[in-house]
Amino acid sequence: MLTWEDGFEGREVSLVFDAAMADSEVYLNGHRIIAHKDGYTPFEARLTPHLKRGENLLTVKIDGSENPEIPPFGGQIDYLCFAGIYRDVWLKVASPVSIANVKIETPDALADTKSVTARVFLANPEGRAFAGTISAQISRRGGGDVATASVNVSANEAFLTFENLTGIELWDIDNPVLYALSLKLETEHGEDVLTHRFGFRTAQFTPDGFLFNGRPLKLRGLNRHQSWPHTGYAMGRRAQEKDADILKYELACNIVRTSHYPQSKWFIERCDEIGLLCFEEIPGWQHIGGTEWQKESVENVRCMIERDWNHPSIIIWGVRINESQDNHDFYAETNRLARELDATRQTGGVRFITNSELLEDVYTMNDFILGQEEMPGNNRGRVVLRDRVETTGITRPIPYMITEYNGHMYPTKRFDQEQRQAEHVTRHLLILDAVAGDSNISGSTGWCMFDYNTHKDFGAGDRICYHGVLDMYRIPKLAAYAYASQGDPKDGVVLQPVTFWARGERNVGGVLPLIILTNCDYIEVKFGEWPAKRVYPDRENYPHLPHPPVVLDLRSVTPEEFGTWGRVWREGTFTGYVDGKPVKSLTLPADPVPTTLEVTPDDTALRAGEKDAVRVVIRVLDQCGNLLPFFEEPVSLALEGPGRIIGPADHTLKGGATGFWIEAGDEHGTLTLTIKSRRFATSTTTFTIN
Ligand code: GAL
Repeated sequence: MLTWEDGFEGREVSLVFDAAMADSEVYLNGHRIIAHKDGYTPFEARLTPHLKRGENLLTVKIDGSENPEIPPFGGQIDYLCFAGIYRDVWLKVASPVSIANVKIETPDALADTKSVTARVFLANPEGRAFAGTISAQISRRGGGDVATASVNVSANEAFLTFENLTGIELWDIDNPVLYALSLKLETEHGEDVLTHRFGFRTAQFTPDGFLFNGRPLKLRGLNRHQSWPHTGYAMGRRAQEKDADILKYELACNIVRTSHYPQSKWFIERCDEIGLLCFEEIPGWQHIGGTEWQKESVENVRCMIERDWNHPSIIIWGVRINESQDNHDFYAETNRLARELDATRQTGGVRFITNSELLEDVYTMNDFILGQEEMPGNNRGRVVLRDRVETTGITRPIPYMITEYNGHMYPTKRFDQEQRQAEHVTRHLLILDAVAGDSNISGSTGWCMFDYNTHKDFGAGDRICYHGVLDMYRIPKLAAYAYASQGDPKDGVVLQPVTFWARGERNVGGVLPLIILTNCDYIEVKFGEWPAKRVYPDRENYPHLPHPPVVLDLRSVTPEEFGTWGRVWREGTFTGYVDGKPVKSLTLPADPVPTTLEVTPDDTALRAGEKDAVRVVIRVLDQCGNLLPFFEEPVSLALEGPGRIIGPADHTLKGGATGFWIEAGDEHGTLTLTIKSRRFATSTTTFTIN
């Protein structure tokens, strides 16, 4: 029920759905007012014509079945799309003539004196005659006004220009300076305002690599789905923002691919705020449907670009169904439309087929060659990445990017045996190194950020693809540190041995070869009473990585030094050095015992009334503070206060850890989380809801 409010009088009232999966219809008092099929973009249901004083019956009908008429459905898909309203819905009250959208461009972002253009689109659903002005102001986030302009308007589009802007800072990955364009429309029908953020930057894929703000930048990132355990797609602002933060700050990535659809605005806005580049693409997975389906997909291009064209973080539009076959007419149209709507960004289209027709600006390739040496009949041996000419069949230089690798070629669980995890780590490192060493490749996004729920046709038999470098709770596997260790040590020192430190865990006893993922200049290792041994990063096997791992193997140590089978096992001490100074040290005990139940909430202050959900990670640590990889006992959770635990209250720790989210209710107050286990003292954490 929607109750009439005085403020609706003489105004346009609508409901804005940020997204619903998938086939949606909205009715007001029995009248169908809108239908929208795309499960990933917003739609606005205009209530005004059927809104009555008093009570109004609002009906939202969503068919969440996998309708083969709607992309991505119609074939197999390696992920779940879930069903229903899973993003925010807003009540919008505006003037009869209002501002619908704006496209902001910064045509000479690298010049000393810059300019901005803004194409403003008005909404005038009743087609009223009007005359008025749009006044506009550019301001720096947290700073003052930069420029103002105004224009008279009497049609549904207007154009504003700001010239001779000086003292402007670029939006860059290390210093993502955002500006805001605030628009105010004044007509005889009232006022309306709209503010969009933007940034000054250039982004260009060239045959010789990617140029960001005119300088070479190797793209290093991961693919991200938008799913979570227990809630599917339905997580709000904080969880979306956290994923961007994890990519940037924990995994040292500079790019994310929103595989395989437009993702939450909260996620993309966070990318803008923290300087994480973004490859956004239309919904789809291998399958191309019939004429109606293709029409809908072209519409998906429009919805994606019109929603997101002002985000500085987005550097390329993916306008091909992920990994589909060539289809000239269809992809000529998706490319045409993308270029018409937004001439400032290049297009890409992700394929796994070779010799595909290049209709896009950038040939974006999922190269799953690494691992194929294990396939029956393959006699090519191990190849890390294929050459650009081999995959594209195009001999002239073209912009080229690797959009996926690994994934199903080597699924690995966070609680898998150490040796498998070491191979998982190695494969990610090998590709990062090959990409870093090839100036023809703009960069890469690995498959993928975290494990995800999937259909029965994929996954490990439990409907999970264990393809992430994080698990579903975003708890790192060892491969996560392959990425993290590529970051600058000034942003966080990484020192992560790829081992559970035991003599009998691997196929053949011992821990050699031992990879230590680090961004230190060198490390010193001690085995028991051994004198400390200095070992340098392995530039022999990883010549191109910004920070190769240190590898202890027969080049640096003898098995005897680690003690052979039947001898005493000792503790290991690892110390990392930067600029000659010790910056991080850790000890792996020879006899680890469960010592601490560590409970880490991402935050303890929540917001009321927004379904604000905060993650909590539980880990069991040994006496030296290391995760205990075989700890699998149960814990039970209880929450008191106006909120809930998302998912079950009983968890069995896996690989020494688990995670969950707690969600604030509508009231302010305090939440008390209690975690009981049979081994540790009860742990209590308090949260405030403001
Ligand atoms: C690719 C696909 C991804 C995922 C991945 C697993 O073929 O684009 O969505 O399924 O394989 O490695």
